[in-house]
Amino acid sequence: MESAIAGVIRSLGASLKNRGLYPATHPLVRTPVEKCHSELAPFFANRSELALTVSDGTLVLEGVPIFQLTSSLELFMARLGAIGLPAVIFERGVSVEDIELFVRFLHETKEQGLPIPEIKSRLARWGVTHIRVTATEEEEQDDFTLAREIYGNALNVVVRALKDVRNGKTPDGAESDRAVREMSGMVSRNRDAMLALTLIKNFDEYTYNHSVNVSVLSLAVAETLGLSENERIGVGVAGLLHDVGKTQLALDLIRKPGTLTVEEFEEIKKHPEEGFAILGKMTHIQESTRAVVREHHMRYDRTGYPRPEPEYRMNPHSYVIAVADCFDALTTMRSYQKARTPQQALEIMRKLAGKSLDPDLVELLERSLGVYPVGTMVRLSTMEVGVVTGAPDGGKGEPKVAILFDRSGNPLAAPQGVDLREPDPSSGRPRRMILGTVNPLMHPPVSMSGILQAVSG
Ligand SMILES: [Fe+2]
Ligand SMILES: [Fe+2]
Repeated sequence: MESAIAGVIRSLGASLKNRGLYPATHPLVRTPVEKCHSELAPFFANRSELALTVSDGTLVLEGVPIFQLTSSLELFMARLGAIGLPAVIFERGVSVEDIELFVRFLHETKEQGLPIPEIKSRLARWGVTHIRVTATEEEEQDDFTLAREIYGNALNVVVRALKDVRNGKTPDGAESDRAVREMSGMVSRNRDAMLALTLIKNFDEYTYNHSVNVSVLSLAVAETLGLSENERIGVGVAGLLHDVGKTQLALDLIRKPGTLTVEEFEEIKKHPEEGFAILGKMTHIQESTRAVVREHHMRYDRTGYPRPEPEYRMNPHSYVIAVADCFDALTTMRSYQKARTPQQALEIMRKLAGKSLDPDLVELLERSLGVYPVGTMVRLSTMEVGVVTGAPDGGKGEPKVAILFDRSGNPLAAPQGVDLREPDPSSGRPRRMILGTVNPLMHPPVSMSGILQAVSG
């Protein structure tokens, strides 16, 4: 086994090394790829994937360390390390083409220390399908802990900012800026970990959690949009502070369940302008952020409030906040509404696209969240019920799922992470498939952070 493993890596290393010396079509590049492909085949007789990791400077394939390093192997490891790839997984069905593209990716990628989601999306864009990259398990675990800390910090910043305004003080803009920078970094590092936290809805603290959630969702959309760092931070801060003007309203008005009277609604309509005024007094706030806070209810079709003059030009980032605001409001239970599932919320939002919401951004939010957004409850072909805990690797294929209820509807003692690609030994077809979504209100409430902790731990 060990020598077979060494053979696979040697072939990869040789192809990569020769890639630097010869054109891509040269036999010295192509032949090792084909060799690697045929050497991998026997491994898939009794397993569906093969993991290659770099741990403490040693290359490890399926738990077997490779100590005899040749120069091409060293180059291979150095490339993985430089790009920032802790683990590469070869899946059954990997083609010569996949290996070739992967070697090309290692050869042509010049940036160092890329975040894992970026590597995943690049490989997906290149069309590599049966080779995926993951963070090591400890790193995943650390990410969730870190994401929780960052979310908690941002929550404290919002609580403080709103309290300051209520007490007639000007909040510290540097704090908001710092909190958003941390969240933005976490969104690029591990989007799932950060997005999962937006699904923990705290009914009593609605305004605070809502502010942080809108910021996180806006940051995810801003990243998918490809905005510059400065723009992303501006959008994130606008998300965090978009409703700061509500502090100027009477508390019982903000908390009032059900329909508002005309007079009450007139009061509510003042909060974007109030927010604009508050942000004007704060330091570290971009001019565009202020504008976005003022415009967050103006709506895509300009029928909202404050009603814009015909020649008024809205900041396009205001539409980003509007979709994030809408999604978070719809997925939150309020005294007058049930919480929608992420999918129900997106369905409603698709109907609003082109009217109150920017149609491109609704689509973009959907793409940022995936087909089955994290937190969606799903029924599997085994009749088990689970919850989506992560986007598919590389953005394509099946999402990550943890099972919560067995086929009879009994809750499991602990959530059980399952791989939807795992085949049924008798038929060779996947053992479990997603049949569709399940209304989470039919089941006891789930704590996403607890589930993620259990599944990643
Ligand atoms: Fe608002
Ligand atoms: Fe809001």
